[in-house]
Amino acid sequence: MSKIFISCALPYANGPCHLGHIRSTYLPADIYARYNRMIGNDVLMVCATDEHGTPIAVKADKENKKPIEISKRYHDMIVRDVKSMNISLDNFTRTTDKAHYEIAQNFFKDLYDKNLIYRQDLEQLYCDNCEKFLPDRYVEGLCPVCGAEARGDHCEKCGKALEPTELDEPHCITCGHTPKIKETYQYAFKLSEFENTLKEYINNNQNLPANVKNYASNWLAEGLNDWILTRDMDWGIPVPLDEAKGKVLYVWIEAFLGYISSASQWSKKTSKKWEEYWNDYVVHFIGKDIIYHHSIFWPGLLTAYGCKLPDMIYAGEFLSLEGEKMSTSKNWVIWIEDFVKDYEPDLLRYYLTINAPLNKDSDFSWDDFQRRNNDELADVVGNFLHRTFVFTKKSFESKIPEYNNPTAEDEEFRQAIEALPDKAGKHISNYEFREALVEIFKVAKKGNKYFNDQEPWKTVKEDKTKASNCLYLSNQLAKTLAYTLKPFLPTKADKIAEIMNIKTLDNWEDAKIPLPSGHVINKAKPLFKKIEDKEIEAQKAKLKENLNEKEDENMSDLITIDQFDEVVIKIGEIKEAEKIEKSDKLLKLQVDIGEDKTRQIVAGLAKFYSPEELINRKVCVVANLQPAKLFNTLSEGMILATGETGALLTPDENAKIGERIQ
Ligand code: MF3
Ligand code: ZN
Repeated sequence: MSKIFISCALPYANGPCHLGHIRSTYLPADIYARYNRMIGNDVLMVCATDEHGTPIAVKADKENKKPIEISKRYHDMIVRDVKSMNISLDNFTRTTDKAHYEIAQNFFKDLYDKNLIYRQDLEQLYCDNCEKFLPDRYVEGLCPVCGAEARGDHCEKCGKALEPTELDEPHCITCGHTPKIKETYQYAFKLSEFENTLKEYINNNQNLPANVKNYASNWLAEGLNDWILTRDMDWGIPVPLDEAKGKVLYVWIEAFLGYISSASQWSKKTSKKWEEYWNDYVVHFIGKDIIYHHSIFWPGLLTAYGCKLPDMIYAGEFLSLEGEKMSTSKNWVIWIEDFVKDYEPDLLRYYLTINAPLNKDSDFSWDDFQRRNNDELADVVGNFLHRTFVFTKKSFESKIPEYNNPTAEDEEFRQAIEALPDKAGKHISNYEFREALVEIFKVAKKGNKYFNDQEPWKTVKEDKTKASNCLYLSNQLAKTLAYTLKPFLPTKADKIAEIMNIKTLDNWEDAKIPLPSGHVINKAKPLFKKIEDKEIEAQKAKLKENLNEKEDENMSDLITIDQFDEVVIKIGEIKEAEKIEKSDKLLKLQVDIGEDKTRQIVAGLAKFYSPEELINRKVCVVANLQPAKLFNTLSEGMILATGETGALLTPDENAKIGERIQ
C-alpha cells in the first residue's frame, strides 16, 4: 500500500469555477484519487483558494471593497462548485488562514537564515499619483516581444513572462498615469544556485510527462536567474523581517505552501501525518500555464528547504469553448454553477474525460456534448444496463441466472469483462484517463452487441440456457461497469450498485469477483436520458446572449504569435504568367520561391495586371497553403495583394528569393 499526496493547483479567489478549472485539474485529480482509494492506497487530496496577489487586490480596488471581502466571496463559491462536481478533496483551505501565514513566514525565514534569500536593490515602477509601487498586474502596457497589450507580469498573446519595467508605454491601471522608475529593494531567492539540481530532476525523472519535461528543459536551457520573492504592497503575507516594513511575500512563493498548509490543517483534524504521504508519493495536478512555476520554482524552493521533490507533475492542456478560447472577461465561458443547474455533474465528467486526453487541447461544444451523451451514455451504456436489469426482472425473477455450457461467444465476452478492471486500472495509474474510459466504453458497446446477437427474448422461450448465460454475463458486466465507472461517474456508479444490490464499490478488486447466480437485484430505473435538440439550442443561444464583446481586454479574435507563425510567407519572383481561359479574373503564374521547382499559383489578378506586367516582379507568397484547383488548374500557394485594387505587396529590392517573412 502506498500513501499518495495529491494536490490541485490553487485557484485564485477572484472568480467562481468554470469548465476549464474542472477539466485541467480537479477532475483528473479526483479520478486518480478515487481510483487509488479503491485499490487500497491511502490518499490525501488537498487544495485551497489562492487569496493574495494582485489578481484579487486589483479586483477589490475596482469594486471598492477590501481584498478579504472579495476572496471570501469567491472562496465560498469555489467550494460550492467543487462540491457540486463531487470532487473528493480531503481538505480545502484558504491562504488567508492564520496557519498558512505561519507556515509561509517560517519557510521564508528558513531560506533567509540559510543565506539562500538575499536583499537586492533594484528599480521598480512607481505611480506618483497613487503613491505606490506597481507590482505585476498593477501596471499594463505593451509587450516588448510581440507589441500586444500586456500585463506587468505576463503577456497573454505571446505567453512571455514579464517584469513590469520591461513593458513599453506602461500605465498605472488604477489612475492611468505613466509610472516612473524608483529605487527600492526586494528579497531574491538564489534560484540560479539550483540550476544543476533542477536539470537533474527534470532529466532523470522518467515519470514526468512530455509537456512538462519540454517546457522545463527549454527554460533551463536559457539559464536561471535569481527570483524576486517579495513585493511592495499591502495585501499579502508580511515578510517576516524587521527591516522589511511594508513588504509582502510574492503570491507565488506562498501559494505553493498552500499545499502544505492545507495538508497540515488536515493532519490536525485527523491526527494523521501528512508528511508520510508527501514522502511516499506526491503528484501535483496543474494547468499548463503554470508548468514553469511547478517544474522550476517549486522544486527549487523545496530543494533549498531540504524537502523531497514532487514525483509527478501532471499538466492539463487548454480547454476551449465552441472552438474559441475561453474568456472570463468576455463571458465566453460556462460556469459550473450554471451547468449543474441543468445537467448532472457526471455527464460533464464523462464528456470532459472522453473528449480528449489531458495532455492535448480539448474543446467543449454543446452539440458534441449532446452527441456523446445521447449516442454513448444513453444509447450504449444506459441502454445496455436498462435492458439487462429489466430482462432479469421479467424473465428471471430479478435473480442473476446460472452460467452453464457456455459457447465460444459467451466465453469471449466473459473474458473481455474479466480483463476490464485491470486494463482500465492500468491506464488510470498511468494518468491515461481518457484511454481508461474508452476501454470501459468499448466493453459496454460489446455488451450491447452481445445482447442483441444472443436475442435472449427469443431464446428464453426456446433454449433457456442460452438466455441464462446471456443474462448472467450481462449482469456481470453491469457490475464491472459500476466499479470501473466509479472514479469517473461516481453518482451513476452508485446508482448502478444500488439497483444491483451491491453495498459498496470501495474495493476495485471486487470488480473481478462475479456476482453469484441467485443474487437478487432491485427494480431498474433508467440511468441516462437523451438531451433534446431544443435544450442544446437554448444553451447555445444563452452563451451568445451573455457574450460581452465590448470587454475585449485579454482575449479576442486576435491571433497569437504562434498562430501567425503557422503561415509561411516567402519572397518569390514571378517567372511566367498567362491568362486562364474562360476566366476574366484569374491568371496562372509560375513563381520561383527558392525551391527546386517553381510553384504554380492561380491568382485573381487578371483585372489589375496584364500577364506581361507581372513577369520578373518580386512578390510575397503564402507557401504552405493546401493546394487547390481553380478552373481545373492546380494552385500551390497564394500571392499577397489587397482585395479591392489588387495592389501587389512588393518587397524591397534587397529581399532574397525564398526568404521567409517573419
Ligand atoms: N492561483 C494560481 C493560478 O491560478 C495557481 C497557484 S498553484 C500553486 O494560476 F501552486 F501555487 F498552488
Ligand atoms: Zn496610479
